[in-house]
Amino acid sequence: MCGIVGYIGNKDCVRFLVDGLKRVEYRGYDSAGILIYRKNTAEHFLVKNVGKIIELEKSISSNLSGNIGIAHTRWATHGEPNHKNSHPHVSNDGNIFLVHNGIIENYTSLKKKLEKTGFTFYSETDTEILVNLIQHYYKGDIEKAVKEALLDVKGTYGIGVFCLNEPDKLIAARLGSPLLIGIGKNENYFASDPSSVLKKTSEVVYMQDREIAVITKDSVVHKTLDDELLEKSIEKISFELTDIEKSGYDHFMLKEIFEQPKTITDSMRGRLLLEEGTTKLGGLNEHPEIYNSLINADKIYIVACGTSWHSALIGEYMLEEYAKIPVEVEYASEFRYRDPIITPKTVVIAISQSGETADTLAAIKEAKRKGAVVLGICNVVGSSISKETDAGVYLHAGPEIGVASTKAFTSQVIVLALITIDIARRKHLSFRQGYKIVKELKILPALVESILENSAVIKEIAKKFSSAKNFLYLGRGYNFPVALEGALKLKEISYIHAEGYPAAEMKHGPIALIDENMPVIFIAIKDTIYDKVITNIKEVKARNGVVISIASYGDEEIDLISDYVIKIPDTTNLLSPILTVIPLQLLAYYIAVEKGYNVDMPRNLAKSVTVE
Ligand code: UD1
Ligand code: GLU
Ligand code: MG
Repeated sequence: MCGIVGYIGNKDCVRFLVDGLKRVEYRGYDSAGILIYRKNTAEHFLVKNVGKIIELEKSISSNLSGNIGIAHTRWATHGEPNHKNSHPHVSNDGNIFLVHNGIIENYTSLKKKLEKTGFTFYSETDTEILVNLIQHYYKGDIEKAVKEALLDVKGTYGIGVFCLNEPDKLIAARLGSPLLIGIGKNENYFASDPSSVLKKTSEVVYMQDREIAVITKDSVVHKTLDDELLEKSIEKISFELTDIEKSGYDHFMLKEIFEQPKTITDSMRGRLLLEEGTTKLGGLNEHPEIYNSLINADKIYIVACGTSWHSALIGEYMLEEYAKIPVEVEYASEFRYRDPIITPKTVVIAISQSGETADTLAAIKEAKRKGAVVLGICNVVGSSISKETDAGVYLHAGPEIGVASTKAFTSQVIVLALITIDIARRKHLSFRQGYKIVKELKILPALVESILENSAVIKEIAKKFSSAKNFLYLGRGYNFPVALEGALKLKEISYIHAEGYPAAEMKHGPIALIDENMPVIFIAIKDTIYDKVITNIKEVKARNGVVISIASYGDEEIDLISDYVIKIPDTTNLLSPILTVIPLQLLAYYIAVEKGYNVDMPRNLAKSVTVE
């Protein structure tokens, strides 16, 4: 989950490496470190610090320079976030340096083996075992030593290696953690994320599992771990520098919330067929056999984690109501270990923003092992999940950097709606019904825009409730998962305890929590179950609860029974989550800002969870 960056060339690379780390800091920010090698003096410098990249920057002296380097920002898995556990790690003989993203699962047995041959360990990390294992195999050829060491390793890694004895090269290798090579002029780079190299180049080569690359300033050689030479193609990074900058917003999260009219449009671009009252997904149509399996499935599992799991729940409601296919939504981590029932007509859909979520990847592998057709819904193009799935649909929402997902969620719901409509139209949904939904989809970005224009109201409410200790979020039908998502957003960035429930479930337990100190957020738009929600609001008011309602424009009744009301436009049932979630994203954001927290990098979290 961390970020790694490397440089080899003639120029001074300190700034490039630090800036490269900053681009991926959102992935892990427990500590950061950098190893710099200066060719003309054959000196090397290792600088590390606990905390964010800014702390590392403070410890880098202004005259530090060098033309080869590897750098790391850590999300600790083995050992607390302190100085000695920070990367780069160095081998006992001081010759080899390593940055590592992932987990060496068999590190205990490797450690025992190495200790017997005289190695000593100074950190609690799994990474330090690997760098010494490389030393163990080192007989003057670093490439060979890395390969041999990696053949002993179980687990996941994206690594960058530098060896003082062979300072004209860097070695990169991957298994399960993303890694790419950036191609420059008289210099080359590696990184776990394209955003780290984009300032220098938009030409990259994505590495695949069990591949190793030997990088010099003017060449890159790709091989498998078994020494087979590979011809790899150069790809263009699909986004621009402005896509990964804050562009005047205080936080990436706020930028991404406000970007949603555009990102929703991007997720629908070329995919709406209004005249035919349906939708079209290139990523599925390109693979007719796979797509037929989905259309004719007698059961769909959707596997996901976190926010993606919430969009999956909305997908379940959509697919069951419109496509009439039974759907079961599973946490990817549970699915994997509980022997799910996969029949020849079961299709699995995996949802993940990053496409690197380790639990989801593991679930996909389990589903494939059992013979299921597996589809992906991912945002990051070229990600592990997109490669592992038989076919799928990209969100095309652009890089999401704020740790709390916002625009990816709305795009996931869009894509699920597009898939639902296409399948339903091929079955029994009439042209008229399809046309109505597609028309609503077309105007959705403008409706989202109108909610964003009213953000001041939400900011005011946030100010009033920022010191609350607990929040309850309630919704029904398509908006029950939105209640879960609203609560998750608040937990993630404001550290306030929050629960989401189906509104009617409240009386089966949570109602006991309600008193004058408990804000209860109701999603109470004018849909088919509006009257039922109103009854639930009255139940809360009868117990002195404070009610904040997300309601439809023109609903005056709700003003009388709520303490605060946020009005939003109406749309058709299945698309309503895209509108109702926006005020909840903003509310969580403004409360976190009010409390003075680092919204983009909440404590203990990381953007793409690449460990199980
Ligand atoms: C594709 C292009 C898009 C272009 C459009 C024009 C890409 C990534 N997309 O979009 O830039 O504007 O054609 O017609 O180049 N896939 C998976 N698993 C996943 C996600 C996707 O296997 O999790 C596969 C799809 O099955 C497909 C490919 O990746 O083969 C691209 O998917 P997607 O971008 O959704 O396809 P289009 O919308 O057709
Ligand atoms: N497992 C390694 C550690 O805990 C790497 C973690 C990471 O990916 O940042 O140091
Ligand atoms: Mg179901």
